[in-house]
Amino acid sequence: MLKAIVLCAGKGTRLRPLTHTTAKHLIPVANRPVISYTLETIRSAGISDVALVVSPTNRDEFERVIGDGSKFGMRISYVVQEEPKGLAHAVWVAKDFLDGEDFLMYLGDNLIMEDLKPFVDDFKEEGVDASILLTPVEDPRRFGVAVVEGGEVIRVVEKPKVPPSNLAIIGVYMFKPVIFEGIENIKPSWRGELEITDAIEYLIESGYRVKAHVVYGWWKDTGKPEDLLEANRKVLETLKGTSIKGNVDDKSILQGSVDIDEGSIIVNSVVRGPVVIGKNSVIKNSYIGPYTSIGDGVSVDGCEIENSIVMEESVVMNISERIDSSILGKKSRVVKSSEKPRSVKLIIGDLSSVEIP
Ligand code: DAU
Repeated sequence: MLKAIVLCAGKGTRLRPLTHTTAKHLIPVANRPVISYTLETIRSAGISDVALVVSPTNRDEFERVIGDGSKFGMRISYVVQEEPKGLAHAVWVAKDFLDGEDFLMYLGDNLIMEDLKPFVDDFKEEGVDASILLTPVEDPRRFGVAVVEGGEVIRVVEKPKVPPSNLAIIGVYMFKPVIFEGIENIKPSWRGELEITDAIEYLIESGYRVKAHVVYGWWKDTGKPEDLLEANRKVLETLKGTSIKGNVDDKSILQGSVDIDEGSIIVNSVVRGPVVIGKNSVIKNSYIGPYTSIGDGVSVDGCEIENSIVMEESVVMNISERIDSSILGKKSRVVKSSEKPRSVKLIIGDLSSVEIP
């Protein structure tokens, strides 16, 4: 039976301070952890036995948020990678879980709006040793890059200075267990990691067959704050119709697709979708503009917010400027104060970012 592993053990340094307290794969996009979209894609491709490769520090949080997988209709196990020593090393630590089966490998911080069933079915039918998902990109130097001939990969190279093609490896792979032979035969790269790209190159050089599967849909490596906002927009774009479980008073106006969950209250406000609002939030005297996700237990009063992610239990009050393209972590507080002296008071965590007009 085909299995899957999703790699979630990296550090997420470019998303600090958010990743000081939340694994980047669990940051909410349209009010759901990034990784939940991946799990649904994997299940739709017909795979329901999945291991998440996690780090010793984020394991508890994953188990709490994702659990045993029953809410996704799949069985989820956890494999701890003690240190992020590279993607090939992550596969190695999942060896017992994989137990000699063919498997799908998915990099947990990538969001791919692509039905993976054709990719998985192709791999099964063609009897190749590996298959990798590729897409043409403008700057291939940031990725693993593949050279393809007659539908098969004839060379792969990790983050090349001079890319041999524009086909980037986008973080979804299919492998037969022979990949372990590749992993055993590689050495750490210049960045000190055991690269899965090198293990694939070993397969090619040893005469094994690696298939290319080129796709053209939207995908994103959610490594940076602006990527998260783009992913949020992309998911919200798919919101269809309006669903209101909370309460909207008659002075408020809802436009476009708006999803308001149980216990939330909208008072004297305009909400212009696509927007999602979680449970037990209060929006008063405010404008919530397109592509905004408001989490559970958030309070917004006297503000305009657009194209932003506001996580659970945050408070945003009486800000005269429109808040745009912003990410507010859990329990953040952004308020106008009337105390003297009139000054900006900031208590912000390490590596936070505030831009004032
Ligand atoms: O985004 C696609 C790219 O992902 C590919 O084009 C590259 O060929 C591939 O090497 C990879 O490059 P990155 O430098 O972007 O990989 P990153 O270190 O960001 O790790 C990707 C995911 O794997 C992330 O969710 C963390 C997880 N990971 C990473 C390492 C290094 C692990 O679980 N264990 C690890 O040891």
